[in-house]
Amino acid sequence: MDWGMKNRLSQLIKEDGKCFFMPIDHGYFQGPTTGLEKPGETIKPIIEYCDALFCTRGVLRSCIEAVGSKPIILRVSGGTSMVGKDLADEALTTSIEEIIRLNASAVGISVFIGSAYEKQTLNNLAQLVNQCENYGIPVMAVTAVGKEIEKREARYLALCCRIAAELGARVVKTYWCDKDFDKVVKGCPVPVVIAGGPKCETEKQVFEFVYDGMQKGAIGVNLGRNVWQSPHPVAMAKALRAIIHEDADIKEAQDIFNETKNKKSKSK
Ligand code: 5RP
Repeated sequence: MDWGMKNRLSQLIKEDGKCFFMPIDHGYFQGPTTGLEKPGETIKPIIEYCDALFCTRGVLRSCIEAVGSKPIILRVSGGTSMVGKDLADEALTTSIEEIIRLNASAVGISVFIGSAYEKQTLNNLAQLVNQCENYGIPVMAVTAVGKEIEKREARYLALCCRIAAELGARVVKTYWCDKDFDKVVKGCPVPVVIAGGPKCETEKQVFEFVYDGMQKGAIGVNLGRNVWQSPHPVAMAKALRAIIHEDADIKEAQDIFNETKNKKSKSK
């Protein structure tokens, strides 16, 4: 692997081989998502616990401090919205010059396998890999399902991850599933990162799926709403960091969550 690619990947995936990415890219199709109305404010208290930020160029330029920033994974696909015809009808939104100008450590792009836009979004991925590999910039493929969340089962996810890796993604982000998640990871020749998905009812549910996914071979998470839509985002971020980087189990994560939450309420 060339020095530039290796160096960028090492900014994202830490020495222990694990990573905690914080996505704040939701506005690119959802608009001002709850909890993310002011992305710069949202991330202030939690950023220290994360390894990288996943966002669009618009939010990067207008909301994120350039000096002392965490590594950036730039969201470079889009062109659809929640109120439009089909979330899968995405295009590449950002040129390679812009990716370099913004000093992105990686880029992220969605693929919608099994949708009417399968070929188009896979072609977007392939073209992006062609451009980014020339400059040593890793591409993270996001195996997206749009509104069809029932698609989140192992056979489908394994298919998506493998195809994304075959087309050249250096990292693949996919959903966790309760059955056979290990098969999803084993069938993918590049590291797999777990997506967050819609907000869970309890923090314990989040710790459970992240812990299980890590035990089954994922290298980390790209998880947003379950952190910054929580009433206790710092406690969530600290607890998840402990599962990812400190081998904490579910109980230990829950203890960290409770301790942080209680400390905060006492100091009010
Ligand atoms: C949207 C994305 C987001 O990064 C992804 O949804 C992760 O965020 P969350 O944990 O809130 O689901 O790729 O397509």
